[in-house]
Amino acid sequence: MDVINIIEKLYKTNDASKEELLYLLDNIDENSKELLIKRANETRKKYYKNKVYMRGLIELTSFCKKDCLYCGLRRHNKNADRYRLTLDEILECVRKGDKLGYKTFVLQGGEDEYFTDNKMVEIIKAIKSEFPKNAITLSLGERSYDSYKKMYDAGADRYLLRHESASKELYESIHPGEPFEKRRNCLKNLKDIGYQAGAGFMVGIPGQTNEDLVNDLMFVKEFEPAMCGIGPFIPHKDTPLGNHEHGSLEKTVICLAIVRLLLPKVLLPATTALSSIDPKGREEGLKAGGNVIMPNLSPMSVRKKYSLYDNKAYILDEDAEYRTMIEKKINEAGYEVEVSRGDNPEFRK
Ligand code: 5AD
Ligand code: SF4
Repeated sequence: MDVINIIEKLYKTNDASKEELLYLLDNIDENSKELLIKRANETRKKYYKNKVYMRGLIELTSFCKKDCLYCGLRRHNKNADRYRLTLDEILECVRKGDKLGYKTFVLQGGEDEYFTDNKMVEIIKAIKSEFPKNAITLSLGERSYDSYKKMYDAGADRYLLRHESASKELYESIHPGEPFEKRRNCLKNLKDIGYQAGAGFMVGIPGQTNEDLVNDLMFVKEFEPAMCGIGPFIPHKDTPLGNHEHGSLEKTVICLAIVRLLLPKVLLPATTALSSIDPKGREEGLKAGGNVIMPNLSPMSVRKKYSLYDNKAYILDEDAEYRTMIEKKINEAGYEVEVSRGDNPEFRK
């Protein structure tokens, strides 16, 4: 086996075996990494030119009933500052985003039972009645089939639910009491209902091996999500994994590039976590095939409270000046801000 051949095979066929992916991760060096990124960038250009899609992120609630070992919002973190946005506050965020030209609003939050199906349906309908052409993406964790269905019928278009890790043992070790199969089932339900579903994983989870990452890459290839969120693990001081190192920029970028080659049409964000570990993180993510950025629209007063990990980057304020700055950076990296909805070309509701 040879690293260069594997990259060229990925580029030409959008496929590789488990063994080839493992060989690639184990043996990639500076030169071959450069080729991988070049090929990933070419692939993204084939379908998306140099467009970068903007999604306005609204962080609904920092309450969470789960206890993921890595996350600052985990139930057992007594130091977490909890908040919930009201419908009026959510609508204000959405209007702010609309003024900035965003056509997708992402409603994200911890698993908070306060946001019942009825409450979510009310929120989704309120947003859709004011902005019928805009897309709504939900990211509210694991819920029942019925709950996903009700929110879809109310007008939600997409749902992000990272699979977090495709290795059962690693998954269950960082999600105590949470069956691996349950998450897989949620992802399947989302797809069956008709959502553009987003999967994704963290790179550099303590104890994660290249074999685990190959499982993630193989799962993504097989599940074919419309979106895929990939970011480095970053420690949060008030969690059981708080003393570990963060995942590397380099490895995250390699995984982004491989996912772009495996799924040429996937919508792939250059994540906030990537910007948080390195000032060049976002640009590196775009160069490796990323084509989505999710600027934060949450009210300034709650931003610091939505603390999944330490030193989170608070990119893009609501004011227009800041938007000019982010556009300038995107342009400098050789890309262009795209204001259309940015559905995955394979999905049309
Ligand atoms: N480091 C990196 N990513 C994290 N997430 C949660 N906590 C962390 C952390 N400490 C990610 C998870 C989740 C998404 C919303 O944020 O992958 O799915
Ligand atoms: Fe809750 Fe999500 Fe954090 Fe897990 S990762 S504790 S589900 S907010």
